[in-house]
Amino acid sequence: MQSISIRRPDDWHVHLRDGAMLDTVAPFTARQFARAIVMPNLSPPVTSVVAASAYRERIVAAAGGDFTPLMTCYLTDDASADELARGHAEGVWVAAKLYPANATTNSAHGVTDLRKLWPALERMQAIGMPLLVHGEVTDPEVDIFDREAVFIERVLGGLVRNFPALKIVLEHITTAEAAQFVADAPVTVAATITPQHLHLNRNALFAGGLRPHAYCLPVVKREKHRLAVRAAAVSGSAKFFLGTDSAPHSVEAKEASCGCAGIFNAPNALESYAMVFDEEGALDRLEGFASEHGPRFYGLPLNEGQVTLERAEVSVPERVAGLVPFHGGATIGWRLA
Ligand code: NCD
Ligand code: ZN
Repeated sequence: MQSISIRRPDDWHVHLRDGAMLDTVAPFTARQFARAIVMPNLSPPVTSVVAASAYRERIVAAAGGDFTPLMTCYLTDDASADELARGHAEGVWVAAKLYPANATTNSAHGVTDLRKLWPALERMQAIGMPLLVHGEVTDPEVDIFDREAVFIERVLGGLVRNFPALKIVLEHITTAEAAQFVADAPVTVAATITPQHLHLNRNALFAGGLRPHAYCLPVVKREKHRLAVRAAAVSGSAKFFLGTDSAPHSVEAKEASCGCAGIFNAPNALESYAMVFDEEGALDRLEGFASEHGPRFYGLPLNEGQVTLERAEVSVPERVAGLVPFHGGATIGWRLA
């Protein structure tokens, strides 16, 4: 097969930032995807309907053309059920994002105690507003490579039991435990999967030296986990769908004594997924993962139109728009036509 055409895909997890960085990165996402779930971890975070509407307008201006940003509310300890419901009813917020406080970039305002969120979660369950979860505990006693598995054990199981009708997306899964949990969970639970967690294991962080551009959160794990996440992605299960977690930071912020977490994969995200599905002999399942499972879970229409990926030897530049892209300096086997 020399090329593959699929229904226009969506990105169910992306960081588009703001200001000059937004102008730089938004066109890359808009070139590949019809819609994207936009993460609210700006500084300050997007917690109000008015801030989300204004941010949506800035994204539309930066992305241009035919791209629909789907906005999310950043949940804090004092998240208001009424504000959530209002933003959802007005069509501003598609979902809300739970960051455990200090789990990742710009999450200092995140949730310190899930019980404080109970009324908000009850309302979200009642109105059918999905909860998107950064699934890592922040307990410094827990090894960073175990934080996702421990979150599932300590937090997520209980959340699913207590809110049986709440739609929950476990974002950017990285472990065999997460893949198994989601596969076994009720149909209300789904997961997004990034390109980097399909391509990299933790050796990539230390290949010949410290590799800041392979550093993201949740951090890449052992090979057995990469294989389990790959198997989930290509399984055809409607619970697993595309979410790039493209998270650009300046080169200076990445290559520093305390470098930021995040991988900028927007320029070649679809190609990167296509490589994986190709290697797994599952190109026929790429369309479900990229274009169908996500909208069905969110209850949104499938996109019209198609995109075509062609087999080609493509050298990814070391820098794209002044940033270091995923696969930078390497050759990949696919190109978006
Ligand atoms: C994200 C960012 O930089 O905003 N970083 C990352 O490594 N994925 C935050 C996040 O999604 O955890
Ligand atoms: Zn993210």
